[in-house]
Amino acid sequence: MLDLGSRLPLPARHQPGGWLTALAPMQDVTDLAFMQVIAHYGAPDFFFTEFFRVHAHSRPEAHILRSIDENTTGRPVFAQLIGEDLNFLERTTRELLRHNVAGIDLNLGCPAPKVYKKNVGGGLLREPAKVGQILAMLRENVPGLFTVKMRIGFSDTENFDRLIDLVNEHRVDLLSVHGRTVKEMYRSEVHYDFIARAATRAQCPVLANGNVTSARRAGAILAETHAAGVMIGRHAIRNPWIFRQCREQFSGQAVTRITLADVRDYVTRLYAATRSPEIPERNHVNKMKKYLNFVGQSVDGSGAFLHEMRRTESEIELFTVCDRHLLGDPSREFSPEPYPGVIARPNCETPESGTDGCSLETITH
Ligand SMILES: Cc1cc2nc3c(=O)[nH]c(=O)nc-3n(C[C@H](O)[C@H](O)[C@H](O)COP(=O)(O)O)c2cc1C
Repeated sequence: MLDLGSRLPLPARHQPGGWLTALAPMQDVTDLAFMQVIAHYGAPDFFFTEFFRVHAHSRPEAHILRSIDENTTGRPVFAQLIGEDLNFLERTTRELLRHNVAGIDLNLGCPAPKVYKKNVGGGLLREPAKVGQILAMLRENVPGLFTVKMRIGFSDTENFDRLIDLVNEHRVDLLSVHGRTVKEMYRSEVHYDFIARAATRAQCPVLANGNVTSARRAGAILAETHAAGVMIGRHAIRNPWIFRQCREQFSGQAVTRITLADVRDYVTRLYAATRSPEIPERNHVNKMKKYLNFVGQSVDGSGAFLHEMRRTESEIELFTVCDRHLLGDPSREFSPEPYPGVIARPNCETPESGTDGCSLETITH
């Protein structure tokens, strides 16, 4: 008989007893450098690595391990896995548990067709029986925290309640719910009613994920869903102060106002943190443009910054555009919400690359 009440306590949070905050795992984004930059502006309670791919010949990817082994953020990092084979998942879990992980997280959400066609990530949501086997195996092999990140279904929500029941049955310690189906990718409305349903039905804390655009929205989404906290992805790329602002919002303090000069500081810090000697300048500028596609959503309502930024080809051009738009009126507010109609298109920075994951190449909004 399973003891449904024996979940482990989560790591200490910034605000004891308060709502949780987490940085969403993002492939090619949430590496060591990015986590350090986020921590500088106000760390979330928890970090999650981008997914470690698990297959017959996989070894935990060295660059992802760095975000665990060299973590100086002061906050715990969960290691996320994507895969479906029980033996390979068990092997990888054993390997990852030798590192200083806060816990092991299972990806049940990646919507990239090349991923779900292999029946991993979001593809698994079509097969609750298989999900049950994986959860049972991971629960048995993870003595510490075992967490799950899921979407609300594959093409519909038929399996949703069954999946939450499996989460309960296998004593998952924390559940992050991205309130979209796999087929809805990244652009549809978020179904917060399903996050609310998860928060009621699941016996573990639930993190609400999907379009948590600002501290104010985080407060409203928590009031609507009764989730235990928020997980934030793209809007933390746009606004790395968002976790600190959430804590201010949650504790009833005035939310820090961010200026365009603050954003200029963020650009410099991000550029330096993500630069590595083996990447040619032009490639690094293109990588920066992917982050700045999100930042640009809050710089001006006409999209002028985005328009000019996307055309830059060198470091000097990029910073000249940043100076013009961010230091012309440095005390102007960086909008807490994205301006309506200003769309991030990070995939425009590289030609269609046939990527097989959730990287910025596949995300358009
Ligand atoms: C560039 C990018 C990469 C992502 N990579 C992952 C990943 O590795 N694992 C995962 O569970 N979700 C991944 N996601 C999904 C996010 O964790 C999150 O669920 C989604 O972006 C919705 O949250 P948001 O509206 O706060 O961005 C990725 C999303 C983006 C935009």
